[in-house]
Amino acid sequence: MLSIQENQPVEFSAALLEQFGEIVARYPENQQKSALLPILHLVQAEYGWLSTDSMDKVAAYLHIQAIEVYEVATFYTMYFLKPQGKYMLEVCRTGPCCLVGAEKIMQHIENRLGVKEGEITADGLFSWRGVECIAACGYGPVLQIGPEYTFYENLTEKSVDELIDTLRDKAKQQA
Ligand code: FES
Repeated sequence: MLSIQENQPVEFSAALLEQFGEIVARYPENQQKSALLPILHLVQAEYGWLSTDSMDKVAAYLHIQAIEVYEVATFYTMYFLKPQGKYMLEVCRTGPCCLVGAEKIMQHIENRLGVKEGEITADGLFSWRGVECIAACGYGPVLQIGPEYTFYENLTEKSVDELIDTLRDKAKQQA
């Protein structure tokens, strides 16, 4: 994943543009706007979030107005409009998961990472936030990590610690 700051111009790579083209080709001619959501997912996977410049360039690519991209990106909560940690831990905070300890898990994550909801750890590796039901209600407490949206179920404080350690090790190996 490439790292970009706010107000930093982006230039989509040839590989990314090729992926855009494959998605647009799935739709009828002149219906390229239908490719907007999957293309935004690709951009977010590339940069970790959607900057204004990246959204403007998606609009230009699809020959649509920038406002049409902003409307979509601000509507769906899976799109991040500001930089995030490399790993965003999204903990379900809806009723059924709260009944089995989701709030305790979120508090534990906050304590363990030393950052509040929406903040980024100093090493840039982690952010966390509470989200609404992620459709694994029978396995709560549960969290997901994008961009693959891998699920971690039946969370305990111990399993959260192990997950964080595993992700730290993984990031070290990738460095
Ligand atoms: Fe947590 Fe549905 S209530 S996954």
